[in-house]
Amino acid sequence: MNNVAEHIAIIMDGNGRWAKNRGHNRTKGHERGVEVVRKITVYCSEQPAIKELTLYAFSTENWKRPKLEVEFLMKLIERYLRKELPFYLKHNTRFETIGDLSRFSSSLQKLISQIKEKTAHCDGLVQNLALNYGSRNEIIRAANTVISANGELTEQALTDQLDSSSDIDLLIRTGGDHRLSNFLLWQAAYAELFFTQTLWPDFTKEELQRVINKFEKIERRFGGLK
Ligand code: FPP
Repeated sequence: MNNVAEHIAIIMDGNGRWAKNRGHNRTKGHERGVEVVRKITVYCSEQPAIKELTLYAFSTENWKRPKLEVEFLMKLIERYLRKELPFYLKHNTRFETIGDLSRFSSSLQKLISQIKEKTAHCDGLVQNLALNYGSRNEIIRAANTVISANGELTEQALTDQLDSSSDIDLLIRTGGDHRLSNFLLWQAAYAELFFTQTLWPDFTKEELQRVINKFEKIERRFGGLK
């Protein structure tokens, strides 16, 4: 039996280098990155086996970037979401987020909740955008929720309070680095990890398909024996 990659998570790294290699400003790389987000989302929405796609768009650490780049990313995310509703509806894709949204502008927060509401009925792919997301922050928030309700802190109780509780099957990082950068540390406990040198703006559905093909053949034991 082949493995099924029901939940795929991607660390979309390399936008800045892609732009620099072409003599452009880093922001150009982020713009190109958005186009790749769309292509990969369409591809996943067309694969019935894939149920969920979680994308690392902005981390809790990304606020440390130069002010101009942070401002650009905020505007880019807002601009993207303003026109994306027809895209989600066309591809029967439900929009969700993970991360602490409270640090975003109220207009962006409102936009995010509108798109969630208007795509809530879509029963194809779930696309989770990680926005102001950090796994440690998420785990602490979840643990505090359990404790505030006077609950016992068990694996299940904590999992239930995470922003996204479903286990990751396949985690991909583009851009050549081999680290998790505080992404889905809990949910990726048994994920298969794939690292590619390809910079995010050059990532294609064909490369994703090749990674999935390899993933399907891996023997996953979840700590047990074959
Ligand atoms: C990493 O590249 C990428 C990011 C910090 C942001 C990812 C954002 C996008 C793909 C665009 C926003 C997405 C949506 C859906 C609106 P990097 O800048 O760290 O690249 P580098 O390692 O080459 O510098």
